[in-house]
Amino acid sequence: MSLNRYVLLGRSGLRVSPISLGTMTFGNEWGWGAARDSARRIFDTYIDVGGNFVDSANLYTNGTSETWLGEFMKESGRRDKLVVATKYTYNADPGDPNAGGNQRKSLLRTLETSLKRLQTDYIDLYYLHSWDRMTPAEEVMRTMDDAVRAGKIRYVGLSDTPAWYAARAQTLAQWRGFEPVAAMQVEYSLIERNAELEFADLAVELGMGLVAWSPLAMGLLSGKYKPSEAGPNAKFGEGRLQVTSAGGNPPPGFDKLGARNFAIVAELEKVAREAGVSMAQAALNWLYGKRGMASILVGATKPEQLTDSLGALDFSLSDEHRARLDAASAPPSPLPFPYYFYTDVQQARITGGVEVEAHAPRYALPAVVRPAQAD
Ligand SMILES: NC(=O)c1ccc[n+]([C@@H]2O[C@H](COP(=O)([O-])OP(=O)(O)OC[C@H]3O[C@@H](n4cnc5c(N)ncnc54)[C@H](OP(=O)(O)O)[C@@H]3O)[C@@H](O)[C@H]2O)c1
Repeated sequence: MSLNRYVLLGRSGLRVSPISLGTMTFGNEWGWGAARDSARRIFDTYIDVGGNFVDSANLYTNGTSETWLGEFMKESGRRDKLVVATKYTYNADPGDPNAGGNQRKSLLRTLETSLKRLQTDYIDLYYLHSWDRMTPAEEVMRTMDDAVRAGKIRYVGLSDTPAWYAARAQTLAQWRGFEPVAAMQVEYSLIERNAELEFADLAVELGMGLVAWSPLAMGLLSGKYKPSEAGPNAKFGEGRLQVTSAGGNPPPGFDKLGARNFAIVAELEKVAREAGVSMAQAALNWLYGKRGMASILVGATKPEQLTDSLGALDFSLSDEHRARLDAASAPPSPLPFPYYFYTDVQQARITGGVEVEAHAPRYALPAVVRPAQAD
């Protein structure tokens, strides 16, 4: 197992590992993370196989994630070899409306805090973490560009924004000569495929590499939930999903333990067994084949979990296995407006029934092959 191959991030020249390491599990402040020695072994496991792309955020585990990552980078002497990503948006001082948000004041203040915690002079990839629904894209992109010119960040990323907002930000960057957006971070897995409706095309057309977060659906696809060994609604095993599903987090983002999702896990279990790989590896390999994908952002609370995930690109699932996973995880039919317009039947009405050859398949929406199922 090794990660000694790299891919370009979007249309930038930055070389990143196709599997990146999430550090949201560094620290137990949220009730489901790793202790320091375990986090250190996870970090070492990743860099020992050649991984170079690590991800944090200003408020992961209330700042412990960035602090430990900074310490580990310093202790290992590997800071300059790593592509360090972190994020701003969430509020570090409740009651102060400028201590969070996408605005210039929040960005520059959070950036300074992250640089100190990470014990570095520069962030390789700085993300807007989540859209605040208020700040104009002009302000964000101008401030990001200023931070690049000041040498505090190298590349710009967006996370959890609508696709229209990302397209506007990128177009502004191109027309005004700001540093463009290199990465778009979105939730994407066999359980969550909405990224295919807009973000895959956004990535390819506008040159942003997709970075998929929670690719194992926060542990649901990891192999610890085996439908063949328990009833479909069983809540078993120990891990984050037990904590988050009991902790009042809003579904569907955090409560992954519904019947629809267990049907997907059941098919994943069969495919993985037939392919002779772990369930986590099958789920990640399926995901890496998706349009626009640059890097899969995995998490772990134990080094052996990461070792399992790092083997995900050492083989290729067969077309038949991919098709079965596509079918099992297809979105409910019909797709919502306007996506139900973009079908072959509709296209034939537009082209007058004449076949038009495109150089590459464009606007590939997920196939809908099964009716909606209630959770
Ligand atoms: N931009 C955003 O809004 C956003 C949101 C979320 C995450 N992220 C980023 O994405 C990264 C990854 O997210 P994630 O942690 O949710 O990813 P994930 O890979 O979907 O889930 C990781 C969790 O699954 C379990 N697991 C993983 N491998 C396993 C194995 N082989 N066997 C058994 N259990 C296994 C572990 O949890 P347990 O041991 O507790 O079961 C582990 O912490 C984060 O660290 C963060 O950097 C970004």
